[in-house]
Amino acid sequence: MKQTATSVVADGVALITLDNPPVNALSASLRQGLQAELEKAFDDEAVGAIVLLCAGRTFIAGADITEFGQPWQPPSLPDLCTMLDDAPKPVIAAIHGTALGGGFELALACHYRVAAQSAKVGLPEVHLGLLPGAGGTQRVPRIVGAEVALEIITSGRQIKAAEALALGLVDAVVDDAALQDEALAFARRIMVDGGAKPRIRDRADALRADRDRPELFTAFAAANARRFKGVVAPAAIIEAVEAAVRLPFNEGLAKETALFERLVTSPESAAQRHVFFAEREAARVPDIGPDTSAIDIGSVGVIGAGTMGGGITMNFLNAGIPVTLVETSQEALDRGLATIRRNYEATAAKGRMTAAQVEQRMGLITPSLDLAALAEADLIIEAVYESMDVKTDIFARLDRIARQGAILASNTSFLDLNRIAGATSRPEWVVGLHFFSPANVMRLLEVVRGAATSKPVVATAMRLAKRIGKVAVLSGVCDGFIANRLLAPRGAQAEAMMLEGTPIAEIDRVLVDYGFAMGHFQMMDLVGLDVIGRNATERTVMGDLVAAGRLGQKRGAGYYDYDEKRRSRPSDVTDRLIKEVAAAHGVAHAPTSGDEALLARLLYPVVNEGAKILEEGIALRASDIDIAAVLGYNWPVYRGGPLFWADQVGLDRIVADMRQLEAVHGESFRPAPLLVRLAEAGRRFGDGA
Ligand code: 3HC
Repeated sequence: MKQTATSVVADGVALITLDNPPVNALSASLRQGLQAELEKAFDDEAVGAIVLLCAGRTFIAGADITEFGQPWQPPSLPDLCTMLDDAPKPVIAAIHGTALGGGFELALACHYRVAAQSAKVGLPEVHLGLLPGAGGTQRVPRIVGAEVALEIITSGRQIKAAEALALGLVDAVVDDAALQDEALAFARRIMVDGGAKPRIRDRADALRADRDRPELFTAFAAANARRFKGVVAPAAIIEAVEAAVRLPFNEGLAKETALFERLVTSPESAAQRHVFFAEREAARVPDIGPDTSAIDIGSVGVIGAGTMGGGITMNFLNAGIPVTLVETSQEALDRGLATIRRNYEATAAKGRMTAAQVEQRMGLITPSLDLAALAEADLIIEAVYESMDVKTDIFARLDRIARQGAILASNTSFLDLNRIAGATSRPEWVVGLHFFSPANVMRLLEVVRGAATSKPVVATAMRLAKRIGKVAVLSGVCDGFIANRLLAPRGAQAEAMMLEGTPIAEIDRVLVDYGFAMGHFQMMDLVGLDVIGRNATERTVMGDLVAAGRLGQKRGAGYYDYDEKRRSRPSDVTDRLIKEVAAAHGVAHAPTSGDEALLARLLYPVVNEGAKILEEGIALRASDIDIAAVLGYNWPVYRGGPLFWADQVGLDRIVADMRQLEAVHGESFRPAPLLVRLAEAGRRFGDGA
C-alpha cells in the first residue's frame, strides 16, 4: 500500500508530507499515517519543531466524505486534533490549495499556520448538511468572535489567504513557490525564539464581548431565517458557536461532537452528500475517457443577444474567453450589450468586482450584425427564439460560414437537435448546449448529444462546462431534454388541481413547505405569463389572465394580486376565471386536500418521468436526473433530487399510490415500467443499473 504520510528531518525540523490524491481527504489511512509520523517526531530528540505539508494540488480538503455512515476507524480526526493540542513541540501547518473542513480544522489545531498566497481556507460542511466536527465551531470563534464565525461557518465560503491573514486565521502568507522553505524557516525561527506553542483553544479574548450579548444568536438566526429555511445544519452551527462562547473548550467540543453525530445521520445530510458526489459523477461519460481528444476553445460566437444569449456570453467573459456577439439589428445588439454591462455594474456595486474588471470583461466582446464575423470562432452557440425554421436556417448558414473543426451548438430547450444538425453538412460537429435562465447564474448545463455528435465534441462540451463554472449533465435528444421534461408534469398537475378547485395558494404552499423557493404559480407570475403562455391553443386560465392584462408580478397582478412590496395574495379575478375555464372544459369540482395527497399529485409524476427518462437512455444515470432537478430547477438540495427522494419514500409505496391516482386521474399516473420493476425487485434508483 502506498504510504500516505512520510517525513524527513533537517536542521531540527521534521517535515511531514501528506499524500493522498486527489485532494488529501482525511481517510483512515491518512489519519493513521499522520498519527504515526507525529508520534515519531514527538519522540525524536533531534526534532524541535514540526511542519505539516501536503503533496499534490492542495492541502487537506476535509474529512473523507465517502467514510461517513461507516464505522470510524481510529484515530478519529478529533483524536488527531487533541494530539496536536497536546504536542510537546510546535507544529506548523503549511497550507496551499484549499484547506477545507476537517483539513482546516486540523490546521487550526496546529500552533501556527503559514499559507501560500493563492491558498484558501474554509469550513464548507454546511453544504453537506453538517457542521465542522473537529473543533472548527470552537476554535474559529476564539479567533474572530462569534459573529464573524457564524458568517464563515453558515456560509461555508472559501476565504482567500489575504483575508484569512487579516482575520487572524493564518499567521503568515508567503509566495506560492516558497511555501515549503518559508514554513521551515518559520519553524526554525519559532525554535530559536524558545519554541512557543500557542493554542487557539486557550484563547478567550475574542469571545469576551460576545459573552455579554446572548441575543446575538437569536438575532443571527432571525436575520437569516429565509436562507436557513428547511435546512437543519445552520441551527446546529449556531448552537455550537453559542457553546463556544458560554462553555469551557472541552464542553463546547463535546457539544459540537454531539451535534455532528446528529447531523451526519440526518436524511438532509445524506441527500446533500448524494448531490456532492452526483455532481462529480455527472462529468463521467462511459464511452468518453481522458484519452478522448478535446478541442481547444479559445474563442466563442454567440448568436442572439437576448436574455439567454447575453447570459451565455457572460459565462465565457467571466472565464476570460472572448466572444463575438451577433444580432440582427443594432438596436437589439445595443440592448443586449447594455444588459450585460448593467449586470456587471450591479456586481461591482456590491463590491464583488472592480470597475476595471467590468471594462476588461466588456472588452472581450466583439459585437457584430453579420454572421460572417463568426468565421474563425472555435465554438458557436445559437441562442435565438424557439423556432425550428429559424434555427435550421441559421445552421445552414453557419455551415457555410464556420471554419472546419468549429463546434456548432444550439441552446434549444426542446426542439429536435437532430433536425437542427441535419441542416448542416457536418452533424458530427453539432451539439446542444442548453443553459438555464439566468444563464450567468444557474449552474446546470445540459449537453445534448445528437445521433451524430462526435465524441471529441461531447468531450469538449463536458470539459468546457467545468471551465465556465457549470455542471454538465449529458442528455439524449427528446422533447424538453432532462430538466424541462422532468418538471413539466409538476406544472401540469398544479394546473389540473387548480381547475378541480384546489386553491392555488395551497398548491404553492405545499411546494414551498417541501423546500422549493417558490410554488408553481408564484414562479409563473415571476417569469411573466405573457412569456410562458404564448403557444396555448385552447382556452386556459393563463391565457385569460394575459388577456385581462394580468401578466404577473411585473404588472402587480397575475395568478395572484401583489402589493407594492411584491407580497402575493389570492385574487378574486383569478378565482372567477378558474371557475369559468373549469366549466368550459367540464372539469368537476374535486379539490385535493392534505399535504401528502398534494405532494403525491405534484411530485410522483416527476419521479415517474424521471424513470422514463432513465429507461429511454436519455439520461445516463439516476443521479444525473437529480442534478438536473437540483441545479436547473432549484429542487431542494436537502431532498437530494426527485429520484433520491423517491428512494427515501419507498418505490413500492409510490407505485401503490400512483395506481390509486391512475384509477381516478388516468394515464398521467400510470407507473413507468422501470419504476414498477424496481419496486417489485425491492430495489432503488440509487442501486444503479
Ligand atoms: N472526501 C472524499 N472525496 C473527496 C473530497 C472529500 N472531502 N473532496 C473531494 N473529493 C473527491 C471528489 O469526489 C472527486 O472525486 P472524483 O475525481 O472521483 O470525482 C475528487 O476528489 C476531486 O474533487 P473535485 O472534482 O471537486 O475537484 P476540484 O479541484 O474541482 O475541487 C475541492 C477540489 C475544492 C477540494 C472540492 O473537491 C471540494 O469542495 N471538496 C469538498 C470539501 C469539503 O466539503 N470538505 C469538508 C468535508 S466534511 C468534514 O471535513 C467534516 C469535518 O468537519 C469533521
